[in-house]
Amino acid sequence: MANIEKLYAAAAPRERLSAEDPIRLTDRRTCRFSALFWSDMHLSDTFPGRCRALRICRQDIENAADPIDVLAFGGDLTDNGKRTERELLAKILNRLPNVEHILPAYGNHDIRFRRFSATVAGFDRLCAALEPGLSPHKLWYGYETRAASLLILGSDRTKFEESFLSEEQFTWLEHRLSAADAAGKPSFVLLHQPLQDTHNLPHAWDTPVPNAGSVGEQSERLRKLLQRHKNVFYVTGHLHRGFNVNTYEEVGSVHCVCLPSTGLVNKDSRYGEPGLTMLLEVYDDCVVFRARDSLHGRFVPEYEKTYGYN
Ligand SMILES: [Fe+2]
Repeated sequence: MANIEKLYAAAAPRERLSAEDPIRLTDRRTCRFSALFWSDMHLSDTFPGRCRALRICRQDIENAADPIDVLAFGGDLTDNGKRTERELLAKILNRLPNVEHILPAYGNHDIRFRRFSATVAGFDRLCAALEPGLSPHKLWYGYETRAASLLILGSDRTKFEESFLSEEQFTWLEHRLSAADAAGKPSFVLLHQPLQDTHNLPHAWDTPVPNAGSVGEQSERLRKLLQRHKNVFYVTGHLHRGFNVNTYEEVGSVHCVCLPSTGLVNKDSRYGEPGLTMLLEVYDDCVVFRARDSLHGRFVPEYEKTYGYN
C-alpha cells in the first residue's frame, strides 16, 4: 500500500481546477438519469501523468454543480490489469462526492496478460472497492433505473485486443434489451471495442486488417442483435481518438458513441489532450451526449448530440 501512496502523491495536480464551467445538467428539473463516462484511463505505475490527469478529472466531479447518478467506463481502466493499478484507481475514486454509483468495466488492457479466473477475481475486488454490493463474478452485469438500462458487457475469456462474448452473455443481452423495449426506456450498451467498420475503423486502428480495433469475429452477430431493439446506444472506447467527426455514428437503428481517452493523449482531434469525458443526460423524450474537457473543466458544445426517442 505504501507504493500506492507514493504513486498517488507523485501525481498531485499542480493547481486546483477552475469551477467556472462545472458539470451541470442542461435541465436538472426534468433530467431522469445522468451518467458521466470515463474511458481508456490506462492507469499505470510507470506513467504518473495518467494518474495526474485522473486526479484532475476527479476535481472536475468535485466541482459539479449537480449530482450525477452514475460514473461509468469504456474499459481499459488499467494498462496491464495489475493489482497496483486497480488499487491506484480505487484511491483516486475513494469517497467520490456528487456521484451516486460507480460502475466499473474492463477493456482488453485490463485482461490481456492474465489467467481469466485471476482477471475476474481482480474485477470483483475492484467492484467491491468502488461500488459496495456489486459482485458480478464475471465482467458483465446490468444496472437498471426507471429511465434507463445500462448493460455493461465484457469478455468471457482472455483476449489480447478483442472481446469474446459467451452464449450466456448474448442471451442475457437479448433478454435485457427486450425488457427495456417493453418498458419504453433507452438502453446503453457498454463494451470496450466498437463494431467493425465504425468510427473510422480499421483506419482508426492504423491497420488495413478489416476487423482490427473492433469487437472482432463476433462484431456482426452483436450488430444484428443490437439492431433488433429500439433506442439502443452502443457506447465504446478503445480507439483513443478525441472528439471528431467520427465520435457519433448511426449503424442502422443503433446509435454508436465512441468515447475518447481520459488518461492518454488522443489522436485525430484538436482536442488531443487527456482528460476527455462525456456526460449523458436522459429526458422523457430525448437523450443528450455532452462532450467535456475535464482536464480544463469545460464543456465542448461543438460535440454535443441530442437524440429523440420513443
Ligand atoms: Fe485503451
